Amino acid sequence: RRFREGWEHRRDVTSLSRRQLPCPDPNRAAHFMNQADSDWTQLATRTQLDEAIANWSPALPPEAEDLDATLETAVAAGARWSAESISHRAEILRHAAEVMQEHRFESIAEMQQTAKKAIAEADAEVSEAIDFARYYAEHFPQHPGIASQALGVVVITPPWNFPYAIPCGGVLAALMAGNAVLLKPAPETTDIAWRLVQQLWEAGVPRDVLQFYPCADGETGKRLITDPRVSAVVLTGAYQTARMFQSWRPSLRLYAETSGKNALVITAQADRELAVKDLVQSAFRHAGQKCSAASLAIIEAEVYDDPIFQRQLLDAAASLQVGPSTDRTSVVTPVIREPEPNLLRALTQLEVGESWLLRPQPSADDPCLWSPGIRLGVKPGSWFHKTECFGPVLGLMRAENLDQAIAWQNDVDFGLTAGIHTLDRREQEQWTESVQAGNLYVNRPTTGAIVQRQPFGGWKKSSIGPGSKAGGPNYVSLFARWSDEQTDT
Ligand code: ALA
Repeated sequence: RRFREGWEHRRDVTSLSRRQLPCPDPNRAAHFMNQADSDWTQLATRTQLDEAIANWSPALPPEAEDLDATLETAVAAGARWSAESISHRAEILRHAAEVMQEHRFESIAEMQQTAKKAIAEADAEVSEAIDFARYYAEHFPQHPGIASQALGVVVITPPWNFPYAIPCGGVLAALMAGNAVLLKPAPETTDIAWRLVQQLWEAGVPRDVLQFYPCADGETGKRLITDPRVSAVVLTGAYQTARMFQSWRPSLRLYAETSGKNALVITAQADRELAVKDLVQSAFRHAGQKCSAASLAIIEAEVYDDPIFQRQLLDAAASLQVGPSTDRTSVVTPVIREPEPNLLRALTQLEVGESWLLRPQPSADDPCLWSPGIRLGVKPGSWFHKTECFGPVLGLMRAENLDQAIAWQNDVDFGLTAGIHTLDRREQEQWTESVQAGNLYVNRPTTGAIVQRQPFGGWKKSSIGPGSKAGGPNYVSLFARWSDEQTDT
């Protein structure tokens, strides 16, 4: 706690994604604007939030309709929707941003109750969804002389860890390009996806153009993915799920954002206190269940061996409030379900040469709630180095120098996010040139990409498809065919 006090005034020093884009217009970027507007610690918004939480009741989503009928409806609706003007569709997206802002507190309450999200996390998620709406409304390219044609029917299959912003981004990008959309929610977070759909309908998206299709992942899911009336599928989920979709339908147009094993490098030239703060945030917020979370820190020997650094890291992690999402002071909230084998192993078993800097502890009341864990001495090539665990566990690796750190950071199958803390410009440049990940962050956490400023997407096994990033300039174009496209004859 002592160390945290001095950190609060600090801001990002630098941040960049692989395709660096200018800082967004602060009047448009909800992440900036809404943080001021809706800061739930302020009295007025706190009262609104209190009311929304007190009045919360489950959203009761409907059962899915017959698949055939749903797809027939979508095909017809898509033809009508794609004939609407781009400016009409953009207007509806802008209105969606307003409606989502009006329902902000209900959405936060829903995520707090059902997705086990801390309020601050849920609030940022609503901001991101609003950012997507505003950004995609503005950024559908209109090249003179080149017509675009919608793909047809697009299926969006989002994850449970960002159950509002990620479906919102996918749905709105596909709608903006003129497609009909079926949203198949994650089974764990059907309620919040249903609220999102209702909000988008309220904003003017026709009900047949956006349909809600809650179904089990098994046989019905397979029928949905393989139906030829479906032109494209957007998946945010496990790599194995993406491969399964491809095996079901090899010709599928699939845009998948999958797993990660993300590391943050800390060199001897880092601002160590800032590094500790960002590392703890990257590793433990939302209990480490962000695909962007850092589950490894690769630390140059001089820093790694520094007892003050280790003490700071230990204190910072141990001082995080662990508790249910319904308790407002909680920072580390429960994982979505009882730990699966990989996570359980990460929380309970060490590899040869490892020890605990901080041993994770289960809660007596909730088998999903674990306090943060930090493993010391993770070895290159070891199980923890290579395996995504998706929970509140961080492993520390001791590197002799930056070259070694980069080699270890790259020596994983995935490449979603990567971070470095160093104040040395040459080290920053060397690192950004060499690291194989979609989103690179310098002197900031590896989580919390901001729409337009840090378009989000992976590399290597973290991404399947053409690799255009969500919240970036080419994303909506993924959902259109262009009249100058080369076609095989
Ligand atoms: N877009 C989310 C983040 O950057 C996954 O943390």
